[in-house]
Amino acid sequence: MNILITGVAGFIGFNLAQDLLNKKNKIYGIDNFDDYYSVNLKKKRVNILKKKKNFIFSKIDFTNQNNVNNYFKKKNFDCVFHLGAQAGVRYSLINPKKYFDTNIIGFSNIIQNCIKRKIKKVFYASSSSVYGDLKTFPLSENLKLNPKNIYSMSKKINEQIALIVSNSFHLNLIGLRFFTVYGPWGRPDMFLMKFLNSIYNKKNFYLFNKGNHTRDFTYIDDVILIMNNLLKKKLKGHHIFNICSNRPIHLSKIISCIKKYTGSQPRIIEKKFQKADVLKTHGNNKKVKKIVNFRNFTTIELGIKKTVHWYKQNKIWKY
Ligand SMILES: NC(=O)c1ccc[n+]([C@@H]2O[C@H](COP(=O)([O-])OP(=O)(O)OC[C@H]3O[C@@H](n4cnc5c(N)ncnc54)[C@H](O)[C@@H]3O)[C@@H](O)[C@H]2O)c1
Repeated sequence: MNILITGVAGFIGFNLAQDLLNKKNKIYGIDNFDDYYSVNLKKKRVNILKKKKNFIFSKIDFTNQNNVNNYFKKKNFDCVFHLGAQAGVRYSLINPKKYFDTNIIGFSNIIQNCIKRKIKKVFYASSSSVYGDLKTFPLSENLKLNPKNIYSMSKKINEQIALIVSNSFHLNLIGLRFFTVYGPWGRPDMFLMKFLNSIYNKKNFYLFNKGNHTRDFTYIDDVILIMNNLLKKKLKGHHIFNICSNRPIHLSKIISCIKKYTGSQPRIIEKKFQKADVLKTHGNNKKVKKIVNFRNFTTIELGIKKTVHWYKQNKIWKY
């Protein structure tokens, strides 16, 4: 298959591209090497992908409509994974414009081209954060959404656009609500990687709300397996799936697990609760499990063990 992955230099895009390249698909990847976090890390990921002959990379900013239109003109994609975005909840308090531009205008540029080119299957990244601080755990896809910040609002808008586009233009669109994805090549702005970087760079670690947060940590290999499975399924119309392990973990458990595999911890500086944060995420994954052939989610112990091993082997603190 000819597959476009946007945000291919990012954490999930890179891991997905690696997997689909090994399955002999032709992967077209785009990214603008945005500097929200280490550009070196993003370039390192893309350089790994470039070693494969069936990978074609283009540096493109998808907020520029002309660039996106020209890019799509010359290609014939069977499927698109739109994973590029301005991620991160806390940064949306600092730079809201970036979220409007990247996640709403950028999303619409990609989707308009999917309509024009009649792409058979379009996956796009949503987020667990669309639920906000709803307390009806585990959170199911059919709940009324309650976004608390600009980031999650942008994802909710994406879902609304996708629903209308699917109905109006008979496009098959699949929204993936990711819940705290972690693992090798993970994002340095997220808890686990930030904690590891603080240990190995001997920097302070800022712990919000005394670490009193619970997250449905979901290991990257499980996420990629599920995405692969969904790619093979016939899905008509618009669908939304929670992509989560259904195993909420308190951050104190994550900290003790990291200590176990690194033998150390950074100096922790306590900070008060951040208003963009939610206290707990815990998703219901029955819907996706019904469709895909996947049952055994990686345990947090094994996931952290593998991540720490990868982190040390690749000396990631240097990026
Ligand atoms: N990782 C998670 O736990 C998680 C959780 C919920 C939702 N998500 C969503 O999943 C998707 C992938 O997340 P990720 O963790 O891989 O994030 P990431 O930040 O690692 O990857 C996003 C990529 O998009 C690229 N990008 C940003 N703006 C762009 C633009 N204008 N043009 C081209 N490329 C651009 C960035 O350079 C980056 O490489 C995002 O939409 C994110 O919001 C992720």
